[in-house]
Amino acid sequence: MFIRNTWYVAARSEDIAQALTPLTILGDRVVLFRCTDGTPAALEDACPHRKLPLSMGRLEGDRVVCGYHGLTFDGTGTCTAAPTQPDAIPRRARVRSYPTLDRYGFVWIWMGDTPADPARMIDIPHMDDPTWGQTQRGALDIACHYLWVTDNLLDPSHVAWVHVTSFGGAGTDNRPLQITEEEDRLTVWRWILDAPPPPYYQPILNYPGNADRKQHYECRLPSVAVNMSVYTPAGQGGPDKPLPDNAFLNISYNFMTPVDEDHTRYFWFQHRNARADDEALSQQMFEGATMAFNEDKDVLEAVHQGMKSPRTPALNLGLDAGAQRFRRMVERAIAGEGASESVL
Ligand code: FES
Ligand SMILES: [Fe+2]
Repeated sequence: MFIRNTWYVAARSEDIAQALTPLTILGDRVVLFRCTDGTPAALEDACPHRKLPLSMGRLEGDRVVCGYHGLTFDGTGTCTAAPTQPDAIPRRARVRSYPTLDRYGFVWIWMGDTPADPARMIDIPHMDDPTWGQTQRGALDIACHYLWVTDNLLDPSHVAWVHVTSFGGAGTDNRPLQITEEEDRLTVWRWILDAPPPPYYQPILNYPGNADRKQHYECRLPSVAVNMSVYTPAGQGGPDKPLPDNAFLNISYNFMTPVDEDHTRYFWFQHRNARADDEALSQQMFEGATMAFNEDKDVLEAVHQGMKSPRTPALNLGLDAGAQRFRRMVERAIAGEGASESVL
């Protein structure tokens, strides 16, 4: 069960060329390709004749030719040729097409039956801001249900154990967590005051000594995590103060695309408000985060297996409160889609 009437990242833009690329998204088999004008297209990856995956055929210009008997489809799924009976294209020879958009360096896909709404796409405020630096885009396959990843990205505590050499640090184990819930998103956050910065951020901060640190872990429906790290010199941060000009911000955007109930494709990049043109720093941050996300992958794949067939009941801790509330938001969104379908 997935939220369908929404945008998911299907692929990094550079990974989709004028070639047939088979993907599974929300359990649907989809073939993605670029038309000759560069726009992406997505079709159900099954010929309506004998359900051969269209990705086993070939792309001729903007048309997909089935590899079994040559039924030919354009990017909207309309059949444009039936070579074995050229004067009688069957009326039912039609393939489902999915709306797509190229934005922020990703190809996005709308998986639902309601009209695709570009306004529902996340807004990324610093994408074109030359004063902000950014990492390249990462992609990682994780063999777990996507809600284990959103759980993880609403859990600022795990860094103390999973990311000891990167994001862990004083206070990440036991400082109290706050939860803020809004219409389509939930945030778990806290300030950790007057503590040494963790290893990942030490080389970036341009002031010596301890820092005040905010962990802001936000998840938006359907499964977008905006993870903001804020640092100020010790004494200048905290929940009741405006952010000083010398605050360092790093925003990690994470997009979880469910492949099926047991697999997730995880896309991400980071924006920071300092050293915008420092390519070496961008690369260092990308490699550090990639290492950390692989630490998460190891844990989450094992959690998925453990929670799939527990021998004894599992329990929740206080740290799970935000993740549990987000899961209920997801359940309500899925139930809402079911309700609107039954009305139609
Ligand atoms: S299976 Fe595609 S044309 Fe026959
Ligand atoms: Fe993590």
